[in-house]
Amino acid sequence: DCMTSRNIIKLPGFIDVHVHVREPGATYKEDFASCTAAALAGGITMICAMPNTNPPVIDRASYDYASALAGVSARCDYALFMGASSSNFDTVSEVAPQAAALKMYLNQTFSTLTLDDMTIWQKHLQNWPKKMPVCAHAEREKTGAVILMASLLDRPIHICHVARKEEILIIKSAKERGLKVTCEVCPHHLFLSTSDIDDIGQGRAEVRPVLFSPEDQAELWKNIDIIDVFATDHAPHSVQEKNSEKPPPGFPGLETILPLLLNAVHEGRLTLEDLINKFHRNPRKIFNLPEQPNTYVEVDMDYEWTIPQAMEFSKSKWTPFAGMQV
Ligand code: DOR
Ligand code: ZN
Ligand code: ZN
Ligand code: ZN
Repeated sequence: DCMTSRNIIKLPGFIDVHVHVREPGATYKEDFASCTAAALAGGITMICAMPNTNPPVIDRASYDYASALAGVSARCDYALFMGASSSNFDTVSEVAPQAAALKMYLNQTFSTLTLDDMTIWQKHLQNWPKKMPVCAHAEREKTGAVILMASLLDRPIHICHVARKEEILIIKSAKERGLKVTCEVCPHHLFLSTSDIDDIGQGRAEVRPVLFSPEDQAELWKNIDIIDVFATDHAPHSVQEKNSEKPPPGFPGLETILPLLLNAVHEGRLTLEDLINKFHRNPRKIFNLPEQPNTYVEVDMDYEWTIPQAMEFSKSKWTPFAGMQV
């Protein structure tokens, strides 16, 4: 049949620096076994796990607990984020040598770790080792505020899931000034916008940052050279929760990011070099992650398929990308 044609290319193992594993505390949504199975199925061989678990990963004891759980079940390489809380600024850096990075939540989201007080941001930015990344969920004017504060302290800052025109443009200006800022963009902000909400369903489309206008989406593509990293923000919730009255924000993404990005390569919107830079080399550099010897992904570039209603390995049995041809 028509599937006898094969165009196999070999790519490096991809690195997803923004993954919500949900273990400990919400293993009905996802756990290390299911999350890392989904990662591998998606061509991702290393993940950085976010700290907004229950308990949150904010000190030595919670780190050791999450680390032990990961050690038992993970099927791929991983590193764990530490969460910045309003009280751990004097102690959290003790765990820095073992951690992926420090995560600061500067906006309200699915987390108990939101930091309101800028003097607390300052303490975290001062105390966390300069050679290690600090990642910020920092939307709109918070993007500008945290870049300013980090540069006043002469330390690098990584902005998570950039989604708006105003965010990518201030990051562009900061980079032009030589400030030490890097940023990531998620597949749902590259491939979806407000114009897809009716198809996805109002409740299921809840995500933070939310989906923005086609104009914001176009601005991300226009400034693709400013984007250092592609990361999923894989945020699994059960279908029942996503269909409920008060749906929690978040999309699963590990099993769909690579096909979506390869499709963008196929369409000429991205080069293979861009893909490898933003989804392997830059994450490794920014997060000081080790090379993975003899680790690679093979892709049949001629294979076409339609993203189904749900993917095989994540416990979150839905996807906002259902029906897309890749
Ligand atoms: O949509 C989101 N979901 N955004 C976040 O910042 C948190 C995440 C989650 O943990 O569910
Ligand atoms: Zn976030
Ligand atoms: Zn997140
Ligand atoms: Zn490499």
